Amino acid sequence: MKNKSLVSINDFTREEHIRILELAGAFEKRPKQRILQDFVVATLFFEPSTRTRLSFESAATQLGAKVIGFTDAASSSVQKGESLRDTILTVSNYCDIIVMRHPKEGSARFASEVSKVPVINAGDGANQHPTQTLLDMYSIRKTQGSLDNLNIAFVGDLKYGRTVHSLVQALCHYNTTFHLVSPIELKLPSAVKMDIKKRNLVYYQSTDIHDVIPKVDILYMTRIQKERFSDPLDYEKVKNAYVLRNSMLEDTKSNLKIMHPLPRVNEITSDVDENPKAYYFTQALNGVFVRQALLASILGVVD
Ligand code: CP
Repeated sequence: MKNKSLVSINDFTREEHIRILELAGAFEKRPKQRILQDFVVATLFFEPSTRTRLSFESAATQLGAKVIGFTDAASSSVQKGESLRDTILTVSNYCDIIVMRHPKEGSARFASEVSKVPVINAGDGANQHPTQTLLDMYSIRKTQGSLDNLNIAFVGDLKYGRTVHSLVQALCHYNTTFHLVSPIELKLPSAVKMDIKKRNLVYYQSTDIHDVIPKVDILYMTRIQKERFSDPLDYEKVKNAYVLRNSMLEDTKSNLKIMHPLPRVNEITSDVDENPKAYYFTQALNGVFVRQALLASILGVVD
């Protein structure tokens, strides 16, 4: 994985995914070691973030790396009209690796093609969020003991939710049964469903969350992505489509875990947080170890 960019989850093989998850397990046991003290990590966030940026920065800092970057394009020369190409060409002179989030689909691929250093996609529009996927896989494997033979429900905005697109593609490498729950307008894109079909896996589509809850091992809730709607009225129609309450979790499997990439708005009520099946805050913590594994692998400090 040395010097390899990570733009799409499909850029890494199944074996490479597993290697990252194993390394992440080692970093979870020992997160503070100064193996990246000779490296500079740049975090370029053209779109808001709490977890992805701060967990990358925490991961890098705990391993001794220096972190540079910006959290708002308005504080960079993009504000003066500088192109993404020029920004990446310039920043890649100052660092050993770039972590970038950008609102445009395809921007991370473009950045990786012009950059002199590897680029990690921290989310490009509604397209992909591969590092979230690796931490989701880590969380699933840790809680279920395996990535194989699971019933996984994805609920909410399956059209614009980039975390869903990347995770469905990754889970196509395993014997997953997919339960896709969304409003009609926010169904999983056909291209991602094709990936499921190509692997001869089964998916069920529904608009009703109640039927799937008792059947699944993982309930992956997602936010309706307000910022991706061109017409605010379309968002208003679907914004309250799914609200998970603690009372809905009574007849669920004992191994069920509720995941969410976060941030949440109203799709999981706070009374669920106390339920032992709620896993989303631990899932966010797992992001630190997975991102340590990615940084160390791509910078060539571990094999
Ligand atoms: N899960 C995720 O991408 O969260 P942030 O938008 O806070 O980075």
